[in-house]
Amino acid sequence: MTILNVLRYPDERLRTVAAEVTDINDDTRKIITDMFATMYEENGVGLAATQVNIHQRIVVIDVSEDKENPLVFINPVITAQNDELMINEEGCLSVPGCYAKVDRHTQVTVSAFDQDGKPFSLDADELLAICVQHELDHLKGVLFVDYLSPLKRQRIKTKFEKEAKANARVY
Ligand code: NI
Repeated sequence: MTILNVLRYPDERLRTVAAEVTDINDDTRKIITDMFATMYEENGVGLAATQVNIHQRIVVIDVSEDKENPLVFINPVITAQNDELMINEEGCLSVPGCYAKVDRHTQVTVSAFDQDGKPFSLDADELLAICVQHELDHLKGVLFVDYLSPLKRQRIKTKFEKEAKANARVY
């Protein structure tokens, strides 16, 4: 089990569009194990492979209180969503310490494959629905800050660029 390095906004690699997984094998399962370890370590409820610089359509989620309900989504697709929106405060492991209100569909149906290559479909609402939409965006190179006003986004970008520079001087 390896804790992977999480890319931080505004790293351009977060803009990579992930490729379909064509073969679900032991390498895929190793990635998934490492992604869960990384997500739990960082106290996140979801992680997309894009965030750990692996550009394959893989997402892991666990929105349970006790970190006991790990969900794996390989090649996930939202097949249905309702028209109703909810506004929620979101954060992201790639934009640490930043929280902002984002509109999301209150319910989505997602189809995907699990770690054994078995297809499944899941109806998600509440926190899980938000998380699914947030993580699937990552696979398209989209971040939640993209939904904010240009001014707000610029402020966040400047802050993170400054921090990246400061970190770069630490040896
Ligand atoms: Ni995120």
